[in-house]
Amino acid sequence: MKIAVLGVGRIGAMHADLIQNHVVGAEVAGVFDVFDGAAAEVASRLGVRRFDSANAALASDADAVAICTSTPTHVDLIVQAADAGKAIFCEKPVSLDLDEVDRGLAAVAEANVPLHIGFNRRFDPSHAAVQRAVADGEVGELRQLRISSRDPEPPPLDYVKVSGGIFLDMTIHDFDMARFVSGSEVVEVNATGAVMVDDAIGQAGDFDTVTVMLTHKNGTVTTIDNCRQSAFGYDQRVEAFGSLGMATSENHTATSMVKRTAAGSLGDVVPHFFLERYIPSYVHQWQQFIEAVVEDQPTPVTGVDGRAPLVIGLAAKQSAESGLPVTL
Ligand SMILES: NC(=O)c1ccc[n+]([C@@H]2O[C@H](COP(=O)([O-])OP(=O)(O)OC[C@H]3O[C@@H](n4cnc5c(N)ncnc54)[C@H](O)[C@@H]3O)[C@@H](O)[C@H]2O)c1
Repeated sequence: MKIAVLGVGRIGAMHADLIQNHVVGAEVAGVFDVFDGAAAEVASRLGVRRFDSANAALASDADAVAICTSTPTHVDLIVQAADAGKAIFCEKPVSLDLDEVDRGLAAVAEANVPLHIGFNRRFDPSHAAVQRAVADGEVGELRQLRISSRDPEPPPLDYVKVSGGIFLDMTIHDFDMARFVSGSEVVEVNATGAVMVDDAIGQAGDFDTVTVMLTHKNGTVTTIDNCRQSAFGYDQRVEAFGSLGMATSENHTATSMVKRTAAGSLGDVVPHFFLERYIPSYVHQWQQFIEAVVEDQPTPVTGVDGRAPLVIGLAAKQSAESGLPVTL
């Protein structure tokens, strides 16, 4: 499958590299970025075409597009790609605006093309094993789900200002995990937020430290902890507690080394951030997307799955600002 990559910043450059070098049955058809330098660098490194425009990419022989541009550009590109009949992989979030999401999903439905949203954590082998333990009934009736997600450091302030806020930028992955692992929709959202890392984030109207409680339709309660700063690296853990037991996905460490001395035992560091921690998840995600498109099956993360976490995120923002729970 030939995949045109639109937007080769942090995540797009990584996707292009994985598609070209690590994903079986796929190659990069070419890359486009409004920043010529980024596109030129990736095109030359991977030995692929550089398109002059998104339209040129969409008019090419690519079977699919990977939309890895800044979030506000996603929906226009989804609509154009759907019109061009391409299979679509779009990075999360689809948009910060629900009406815009619906405009994109309507174009996809009209064109009847595959759409996958890049909630990559579902494809992390450890988190996916927790989900399977729940889905297979091994932990019994799911009672409580805990998700911890903490970044090593805050993003640049300019990014914070356009990110849509922590709930739509960061917690959105955890809202997706909550739906994925529990297998149940969210019916109530309670959120609190604080500024504990950097006052400038508060002055920009955002929080940097949040806790969210989600009540699911099946009665499960999910608790999510997020912080924009973690002294020991990228903290990524999931714990599913049920009537028959518990399944947990712990932090990975750089190596399995444990140093034992008279002072005690010390394991290796945890990966610094998502590019170190989640590479296998991105590769598995591509493999499953390609398989779904080739076999004409539903994509692993559908448009509905792209929309739901935004609804939860908007409710979390409202709850944190009002101090009241929000019913969905
Ligand atoms: N799934 C994940 O783990 C994950 C991680 C990081 C970012 N993301 C998402 O990926 C997207 C990109 O994030 P990033 O961190 O790579 O941002 P980035 O700013 O590093 O890269 C975005 C790139 O898109 C280009 N661009 C912007 N508008 C364009 C347009 N109309 N056409 C072509 N190119 C355009 C920019 O020049 C830039 O090179 C965001 O939606 C973000 O939320 C997902």
